[in-house]
This record gives sequence, structure tokens and C-alpha cells, in this order.
Amino acid sequence: MSQKACVIGWPIRHSRSPLIHGYWLRQHGIAGSYEKVAVEPETLDQFVRSIAAGEYLGCNVTVPHKEAVMGLLDEVDETARAIGAVNTIWRDAGRLKGTNTDVIGFMANLDDRAPGWDAGNVNTLILGAGGAARAVIHGLQTRGVSKIRLANRTPQRAQQLAREFGNPVEAVAWREIDRLLPETNLLINTTSLGMAGSEPLPDCRGICGRLPKTAVVSDIVYVPLQTELLVEARKAGLRTVDGLGMLLHQAVPGFEKWFGVRPTVTPELRRLIEADI
Ligand code: ATR
Repeated sequence: MSQKACVIGWPIRHSRSPLIHGYWLRQHGIAGSYEKVAVEPETLDQFVRSIAAGEYLGCNVTVPHKEAVMGLLDEVDETARAIGAVNTIWRDAGRLKGTNTDVIGFMANLDDRAPGWDAGNVNTLILGAGGAARAVIHGLQTRGVSKIRLANRTPQRAQQLAREFGNPVEAVAWREIDRLLPETNLLINTTSLGMAGSEPLPDCRGICGRLPKTAVVSDIVYVPLQTELLVEARKAGLRTVDGLGMLLHQAVPGFEKWFGVRPTVTPELRRLIEADI
């Protein structure tokens, strides 16, 4: 049986997943491989059938296939259904299964970089209401966070998510952000603002200056690694959680399912990927 796994997307050249899984394969002395495969939307079902036939142990799924692939699997777990997207596929007793590991990735990274973040009442303010926000909300809601506020440029998207996820998720207007910052102790940017090639998040210094000193600031953007939001948060003496850790931690469950070993996010792995950013 083939010892191959892969990541599929269209286009696929930017994926860093081969570096991550390649590192773990070497570290554990596993004679397997992990490659990038460009899969056109028209051939997605054919590719999925090739996994079922044993050509691959499974795969990661990226843009634009994360939603479409859900309908081609035998089983999609509760997490992937809540997010509305699958990013990891594996075979289990002849059945093709799918999950979304962004939730685990976000939470494991938060626990890792800001231990104790969940002690006491956590008032969260999430910027953005896209796919990444869904994963963050699901993770925080499962952990029983007391308040989750969503601010989005397009208010209808935040309102829709608040309706879907229910208590304690609440949509707030973008212009309310300033007023809410002093009572926020976990701020998470899930928008593309601050990403290389996008506009910056406006007034990062002002935002960080209005947060309480005990607040944690998290950015899911990881190119660049040090977004202006994180730089200003550190200058203000706040704890920060960068987006790279989420990328590394979300890769763990896939590797474990395909190769049977639970890998670790080591400082060496972080340095390896940092050097590629
Ligand atoms: P992802 O799956 O990465 O979350 P997405 O679904 O396209 O990607 O969501 C991108 C998020 O960034 C959205 O919340 C988007 O806001 P809108 O819903 O109003 O589009 C936000 N975003 C992107 N560019 C933005 C900008 N210039 N100002 C404010 N928010 C922006």
C-alpha cells in the first residue's frame, strides 16, 4: 500500500504543507512522502476516487476545494459541518472521512502561546466573519468562552454567523470596536487586513492602547509573521499569538491519521517554516 499523502488545490504552489510533513517524516524515519498536487475543479471527484482506490493515504485540501469536497466523502464529522469546509481527508476501514483541523490548530496554538488565556471570564472580540472566523468561533464556543463578539466590514456576514452559532456569539458594528476594546481580553484578527499584499488593519497602535494590559492579541495572518497588530501589541506589553502556530498545529491530526504517529510542533519546525516566509 502506498505511503503517500498530499495537499490538493488549484493553484497549489504556495502551500507550505510539504515542508511541514516532510520535516515530520524525516524526524520519525518514516519512508513516506507528502507532495503538492494541482487538482482542477473539474477533476476533483476523479482525484477523490483515487484516494479511495489507495493511491494516497489521504490528503489536505485547500482553496478552492474545501467546500466542494464535502459532498464527495463517505463521512464528514461534526467539526467540518460546523465550519462548512473540509481540510483533511483520510481512509478508515474502507471509508473516506473528512474533518476540519483549523479548529484544533487555532486552539492548540492559543494554548501553546498564551497559556492560561481561559482563566476567568474571557471577553473575545473577533475581527472578520469569513471562513477563518468560523473555525475560531467553533473552537472558542466549544471551550465555553463567556462572550464572543464579531465585528465585520460587511455587517450582514457577522449577523449571519451570530445567528448560526447562537449563544454567546453576538454581532457588533465595526464602529463599536473602539468602545468595546477596554472590556476585551482576547482580540483576534481573522480578516486579511495586515496580510502581505492587502491593506493594513487601521490604527493598530490605538487598538492595542485601548485593550487592558492583561489582554491577549492573536492574528491568524502569518505572512508577514510579524503583522503590525502583533508588533503594536507587543509594544503595548500585551501577550501575542501569531498565525504561524495555527498553520503548524492544524497539520498534526492529518499526519497522525495517515502515518500513525502523533507529531510535535517543535521550535526547529517553526524555524524551518519561518525561514520560508
Ligand atoms: P477567510 O476564509 O480567510 O476568512 P474570507 O471568507 O474571504 O476569507 O474572509 C475575509 C475576511 O476579511 C472577511 O471578514 C472580510 O470582510 P467582508 O466580509 O466585509 O468582506 C475581511 N476583509 C477583507 N478585506 C477587508 C478590508 N479591506 N476591510 C475590512 N475587512 C476586510
